[in-house]
Amino acid sequence: MGTTCLALGCLFFVVASASAQYFELKNVNQLAEAKKFQKIVIRDLQVPAGVTLDLSNLKPGTTVEFAGRITFGHKEWKGPLVKVTGKQLNIMAHSNARFDGEGHRWWKGGRESKLVKPRFFEAIVDDSTITGLYFKNTPAPCFLCNWCHNVAISKITVDTKDAGDGRAGKAFNTDGISLGYVKNVTVRDSYVFNQDDCFVTGGGEDMLIDNLTCEGGNGISVGSLGNGADVVRCTIRNSRVTNSLNGLRVKSETNAVGLHRGVTFENIELKDIHQYGISIYGNYGPTYPTGEPTFFVMDQLTMRNIKGTMKAPGGANVWIWLHKDSARNWKWENVNVVGGKSAMFRPPLTCKGVPQNLGIRCAEK
Ligand SMILES: *[C@@H]1O[C@H](CO)[C@@H](O)[C@H](O)[C@H]1NC(C)=O
Ligand SMILES: *[C@@H]1O[C@H](CO)[C@@H](O)[C@H](O)[C@H]1NC(C)=O
Repeated sequence: MGTTCLALGCLFFVVASASAQYFELKNVNQLAEAKKFQKIVIRDLQVPAGVTLDLSNLKPGTTVEFAGRITFGHKEWKGPLVKVTGKQLNIMAHSNARFDGEGHRWWKGGRESKLVKPRFFEAIVDDSTITGLYFKNTPAPCFLCNWCHNVAISKITVDTKDAGDGRAGKAFNTDGISLGYVKNVTVRDSYVFNQDDCFVTGGGEDMLIDNLTCEGGNGISVGSLGNGADVVRCTIRNSRVTNSLNGLRVKSETNAVGLHRGVTFENIELKDIHQYGISIYGNYGPTYPTGEPTFFVMDQLTMRNIKGTMKAPGGANVWIWLHKDSARNWKWENVNVVGGKSAMFRPPLTCKGVPQNLGIRCAEK
């Protein structure tokens, strides 16, 4: 629906051709009306503080198109600022569109902050596409697809450059792209500059991450939520991590129940990594990094064509810290991360549970 103002006053009209019918949302109070349409356009919207831009229960087949600048009022709350649920949705944005979280309003205090911060964008969708969304300055975790099935995600940008890189410690807990409990989800051609995990999954099946660029934050993390969450068939390929605390991490929590099966990293470039280039460990949680790793199956892990440099000799090229029975059927081919001499670690870094005969050089000095 649009509004046109003539000398006589304002007329409301619905765009005439049935196939092109759409609703242009000007105000969050119009959401119920908008959801009757097959296409919703959201342009230059200001969402009030403490309110979710609630695109839940959209009709199957709905297209949502974002344009202009979408902003949000400031409140200490958990969010999300935007929520989308439904099936067969097409969620997209014009190339100039920006979700601007104006996250600096929540970043105060960094890691020590007790402020409650909103998650930015959460989708729970099936058989859908999500493309072209550009997020500036996320207050907290940015883009989440949870319980998503058969979803193609592409061209997501998470741009929190205004907070500097992770060492600035400002925009704490700003994970970029997160998948949880998904099935058959792809993420392609995306870019993240943030201060926490670039990509993270705690659990799910059949995930493909292709052409992801990560800068500033905490790298790519495949790891358990604990509580029985499995990661099964997750491939991350043709991607790069630059100037980040960690490069690639595969982890499970201490005493986690669950497994990793078929996690593959392929054609990855790491550059200027500060702490660990590749780390694989089974003691995530309060006892990390020195506590005993507990048993957790990591079956069919593949690392192939991975090259990288550490920022300084203090870092570790590769660190593995697993229960002796965790690693099964690994492949480790053409992995060449260099420049680290594990010099920053006290006590000196050692490894556990490294599978034999793969030529893995762990915690090189
Ligand atoms: C996986 O999702 C895609 C959409 O991204 C769909 O085309 C494909 O059929 C799905 N595969 C299976 C096995 O369901
Ligand atoms: C990879 O993704 C970036 C966006 O981050 C895009 O500009 C580039 O064209 C993509 N590369 C390929 C080979 O598709």
